[in-house]
Parts: sequence; structure tokens; C-alpha cells
Amino acid sequence: MANKSAFRWKRKHLLALEDLTVDEIMHVLSQADAFKEVSTRSVKKVPALRGKVLVNCFFEDSTRTRTSFALAASRLSADVVDFSEKTSSTSKGETLIDTARNIEAMGVDIFVLRHPAAGAAETLSRHVKCSVVNAGDGAHEHPTQGLLDLYTMRERFGKVAGLKVAIVGDIVNSRVARSNIWALTKLGAEVILVGPPTLLPKTFEKLGVKVIHDFDSVIGQVDVINMLRVQFERIKSSQFPTVREFTRFFGLTAERFVRCKKDVFIMHPGPMNRGIEISSAIADGPQSGILTQVANGLAVRMAVLYLVTQAQ
Ligand code: CP
Repeated sequence: MANKSAFRWKRKHLLALEDLTVDEIMHVLSQADAFKEVSTRSVKKVPALRGKVLVNCFFEDSTRTRTSFALAASRLSADVVDFSEKTSSTSKGETLIDTARNIEAMGVDIFVLRHPAAGAAETLSRHVKCSVVNAGDGAHEHPTQGLLDLYTMRERFGKVAGLKVAIVGDIVNSRVARSNIWALTKLGAEVILVGPPTLLPKTFEKLGVKVIHDFDSVIGQVDVINMLRVQFERIKSSQFPTVREFTRFFGLTAERFVRCKKDVFIMHPGPMNRGIEISSAIADGPQSGILTQVANGLAVRMAVLYLVTQAQ
């Protein structure tokens, strides 16, 4: 199952796509290619991580990422332990670092961490000996989502360089947007951010992307539209007009969809607010890659778990 390229992976942790080189990103994608076939077998398992232990440490709710990491580890024959903040001693005041070091003392090889604080995974990586994989830290990064989005675009178009990709909606609160921006710009895609000024400050232009506040001005030009969830739990009321107004100007509605390129590819990291940022008919329609993203996430996370353990 090892990728046959001469490239040597040296990272014990995966914390952010900002840090990764183009060669490293391409190596993850090609390792994911090698693992994708495993999920099509009747016995969906390889022994690559037999004897290793992964702890899924989630301090925020998750459906896709948590399940995907658990399944990825299980397909690689690792043992998986689920840690949930809600039923742990963090409710008694134990810190993240103390929690992690106590769990590590039981013999853990990989922590997968989702946390509301930006930088939590990087901090943890400096206090434990095992690998740390960032499963989303505040509004900072969600590197495996960025990689699976990249993998899915490359699979659909056969390339990433030269693609015009619109990322639309609540950009300021989005770790998915930031990981996508780093990955896509490194690989030569043109990234256009679209959203209201309150959710998309001009400062994003410093990341080498376009910032547009009029969705209709670009909708007919882009190859990919990645709609983001409106993160109502993080938005202040002053940042957001009304749901109806957001949908009218920034929602992917049926009226707007007819003005898209014929072969436009529609993405969304989930969970979706159906009828707010994206219409159900489009989300479930033939040009939607939303469930393909989820399926590819498994192969990408298998690749990440395999690679970080090779560098231990
Ligand atoms: N895309 C994503 O991170 O979804 P979950 O919050 O369900 O993991």
C-alpha cells in the first residue's frame, strides 16, 4: 500500500495546510489514491497500522470528520478510542494538555483533535510524543477537509492548476475556507472568495485570492462552487442581515444555478443549511460532489494517518 514515489514524508503531525509544500500535498493525494481501492473490497481492511492506537479527541460536535477518522483507522487495522469532552474530566477543570498526556500514558500513537480554539492542535503537538492530526481548530484550519476537497476536484477535472474555484458565504468563520485557500493557491488554482463584507473582509486578499461581494458577477465564470455553511453559532447579529437576505444575495438558488457553467461542480463541506446557503435540489442534483467529498475523505484520512505514523 506504500506509495512508490521517491518522495520521503517526514511530518509526524498534520496541523495545517499552510505549512505543507506542493510535494507533500501531492504525496498525500497519491497515497490516498493507493488506499481508495480498499474501501471497494468486501473485506475493507489492510494491516498498515496494526498494533497502533488512535484517539479521536473531539471538543466540538462532528458527524463526518469523527466518523471518517474512526473508519479510516479501522480500515488500517488500528485500534480506535473515542474521547468526548462532554463525558470526560475536562468538565472538572482538567486542561487539554493534562487530558492528552494522561491518555497518552496509556499508549497512544495518534491524537486526532477537534477543538474550538485556533492553534489547539499545534499546542498539543508540543506537549505529547505521539502524532497529532488537526481535525479543525477554531476558525484556523481543517487540513484534512482541505485535502479531501482538493482530491475531489482533481478527481473530477483531472487537474487543479488553472481551475477557477469560488468559495462562498461565511468565510471569516471558516477553517475550511482557509485550508482550501492554502491548498488551492499552492497548486495553481484561481480562488475567488464571495460573501458579504461583514463575513468576508478585504484582508483575505493578502492570501493571494480575489475578494468579491457580488456573487452574480462571477457565477458564470467558475468551474467549482464550494458553498460554506453559515455558522450561526459563531456569527454576531451585526455581521448578518437576515437569513432571507443572505439567501437572496449569496445562496446557491435555482435561479442562480442556471447562470453557472454547464459543467460546474458543486461542493459543500457539510453540515448543510438546506434552503439557506444551498437549495436542496442542487445539493442532491447531478452536479453535486458533496457525498463524493465524504467518500474521498476516508481515503485521504487513511493516507494522512498512515503517513504521520511512518514519520514517528
Ligand atoms: N465537514 C466537517 O468538518 O463536518 P463535521 O463537522 O460533521 O465533521
